[in-house]
Amino acid sequence: MQLAKRFENLPPYLFVGISKKIAEKRAQGEDVISFAIGDPDIPTPQNIIDRLCQAAQDPANHRYPESDGLPQLRQAISSWYQRRFGLAFDPDKEVLPLIGSKEGIGHVALCFIDPGDLALVTDPGYPVYSMGTMFAGGECFFLPLTEDNDFLPDLDRVPTEVAQRARMLWINYPNNPTAAVADIDFFEKVVAFAKRHNLAVCHDAPYTEVAFDGYSPPSFLQAPGARDVGMEFHSLSKSYNMTGWRIGMAVGNAGMVDALMKVKSNIDSGIPQAIQYAAIEALLGDQSCIAEHNAIYQRRRDLVVKTLTKIGLRLKPPMASLYVWARIPEGYTSLDFCTKLLDETSVVVTPGSGYGKYGEGYIRVSLTTPDDRLEEGLARLEKWRGDL
Ligand SMILES: Cc1ncc(COP(=O)(O)O)c(C=O)c1O
Repeated sequence: MQLAKRFENLPPYLFVGISKKIAEKRAQGEDVISFAIGDPDIPTPQNIIDRLCQAAQDPANHRYPESDGLPQLRQAISSWYQRRFGLAFDPDKEVLPLIGSKEGIGHVALCFIDPGDLALVTDPGYPVYSMGTMFAGGECFFLPLTEDNDFLPDLDRVPTEVAQRARMLWINYPNNPTAAVADIDFFEKVVAFAKRHNLAVCHDAPYTEVAFDGYSPPSFLQAPGARDVGMEFHSLSKSYNMTGWRIGMAVGNAGMVDALMKVKSNIDSGIPQAIQYAAIEALLGDQSCIAEHNAIYQRRRDLVVKTLTKIGLRLKPPMASLYVWARIPEGYTSLDFCTKLLDETSVVVTPGSGYGKYGEGYIRVSLTTPDDRLEEGLARLEKWRGDL
């Protein structure tokens, strides 16, 4: 048996050493506390669970779903966008439910990338943008996200010949891993750039509902002309603590939505219908859970920011997302820093280098650790500061 050549291009799993150490420590009975994963610890709201249980009893929901989802779900997504962002989308042409946004993000390059084509991808970034590009036979040109630019790509610095070869542009705000946010002015620049170079823009936006201090992140599709060039990936995962339910959506340009639907209809058979009914309840039902969850994350953010600052890391308190992105002291790689932290305190954080070259020098701390564990982990960090 011979694996396809594309496997040779898969990057090595950077955290292999860290994962092994975690397993060893746990096997020895050590109490390892992880701040590594952006997976909400708060349960899914009860009204959503109740709707799933009810829908699971209906035999109509035991059969194959349609690839493009229930019409009622597409309508609910459209209503949610209208209520949240003041945008109207045709539920039959501009909305597509996904089996978690990762599914659509991973497949969408098949719509726009032919072998040898370029995608513009931000670095550091969610790895699925570049993996999807690679699986489609394309290559990535990475756009650095740096502190100097508030972690926004500087589109003026993309060489003309690169922009001409590119077919897609990936952006993601509120951003994982940097927690940066973008405003409509930036999105307008993206629209102008995409129009100039005939690019398909994919905005990945699963964190718009996780925000602090009264801030409300915008949708890319609110920028004038965005619908001519782009589509937005969204998800119920982080908004309603539904990461395990696997349901998200793509919304925007009708041609792009149709292309992704064509890919999907050849690969998958849609989202289990009972989950679609639960998602409708999430999108149209009581929304008070969002403010309640954000109050919990905001308190955790404040504690994390305080401790990291105390131990000498430089950071900007995030306005949104589930992460704190912090600059580590000189003299360490981010992997060395995380390994030392794990060795000496049994606390796990993510090395920024795992998200790309420009993530080097940073760590990402997730806010999805339960309060008591978070406080214990931070207490260990404060004690540890003397060793830095
Ligand atoms: C930036 C970003 N995009 C997309 C996803 C995928 O979300 P889901 O597939 O659960 O909708 C994640 C998950 O962590 C993420 O951080």
